[in-house]
Amino acid sequence: MTPTEHTYTHSTTWQSPSNLAIVKYWGKKEVQVPLNPSVSFTLSKAVTTTSVGIYSKRGGGASFRFDGIEQPLFLPKINIFLQLTSPFLPYLNDFFLDIQSHNSFPHSSGIASSASSMSALALCLCELEAQLTNSHPINLRLASTLARLGSGSAARSVYGGWNLWGRMAEFSESSDDFAIPLPVTPAPVFRNLHDDIVIISSKTKSVSSSEGHRLMNNHPYKTGRLLQAQSNTLELTDHLKNGDVEAFINLAENEALSLHALMMSSSPGYTLLHPNTLEVIHRVRSWRRESSIPVGFSLDAGPNLHILYPDAYASSVKDWMAEAIVPLCENQTVIRDRVGDGPQKINEVRSN
Ligand code: PMV
Repeated sequence: MTPTEHTYTHSTTWQSPSNLAIVKYWGKKEVQVPLNPSVSFTLSKAVTTTSVGIYSKRGGGASFRFDGIEQPLFLPKINIFLQLTSPFLPYLNDFFLDIQSHNSFPHSSGIASSASSMSALALCLCELEAQLTNSHPINLRLASTLARLGSGSAARSVYGGWNLWGRMAEFSESSDDFAIPLPVTPAPVFRNLHDDIVIISSKTKSVSSSEGHRLMNNHPYKTGRLLQAQSNTLELTDHLKNGDVEAFINLAENEALSLHALMMSSSPGYTLLHPNTLEVIHRVRSWRRESSIPVGFSLDAGPNLHILYPDAYASSVKDWMAEAIVPLCENQTVIRDRVGDGPQKINEVRSN
């Protein structure tokens, strides 16, 4: 009997966003314990919606559909994730999970979906635990811990706004195990910051993030990177609190370029930057100088850029981007996003 022929005893649906790290997580110990602290904001539009229906079955197990199509190739990764999470959620050994997912952003758009997908799944698993044990509301620190076991950056996607993951002596609640909301209140300008995601290439990366994290283990700059990330985390929290946009942009660009410098100086070294990535960087910096408009960039582990700017400049930036940036993009693709409010439980009546 296939899973969909069962009647679920419990089910839930969560929508969870991706996030952009300003201080980057790069390098890890087992299992997804970060080498350094990271700070990110949760996005608004780039989301994964995941539904999980369960029914009793000894030994557990799972099926996975993406956009309604069965995806057996993803099952080994999901099964490893369920093995890692079952010590936290013993019910996973007694129920079969029918998982269905959908992304708001186009497949192969160059946006990493692991943060949104693993956080959406973790939230569903926590919600089902709460239903089975009658213990609402769900524990977001547990959701963050579980999301981390799927993909490190996903730990930061279970809350809205600005979040910190990784132990910092200065922040007593911080942890390597789960993210927490940033323990300072960002100025209004950072609570609705724009992030236009500029797609330079949607091709699969030549070196995966997992490999990049691994190469940090013997990296000659490992100690220096830890110190840089710690001091950038402290400085960033000050800039956010003080509303210092110029200092924020300098720090965001320093972190983005440092991430790629770490890749280039790994052994073996590599670069994920594309000629158009560098061209956009030059154009952002020269337009910032000419216009005095505080626009900056960040990069993930790939060739695509995030163009960051305050809401007050949205219309000038839009005009400039249409002329100077959009022609450099693959299929002229820019995804206009901004700081978001975090995951949402979707109250839909779900049938199988
Ligand atoms: O979560 P992972 O293993 O895909 O690593 C993400 C690493 C960066 O996106 C480059 C930085 C970050 O902190 O999100």
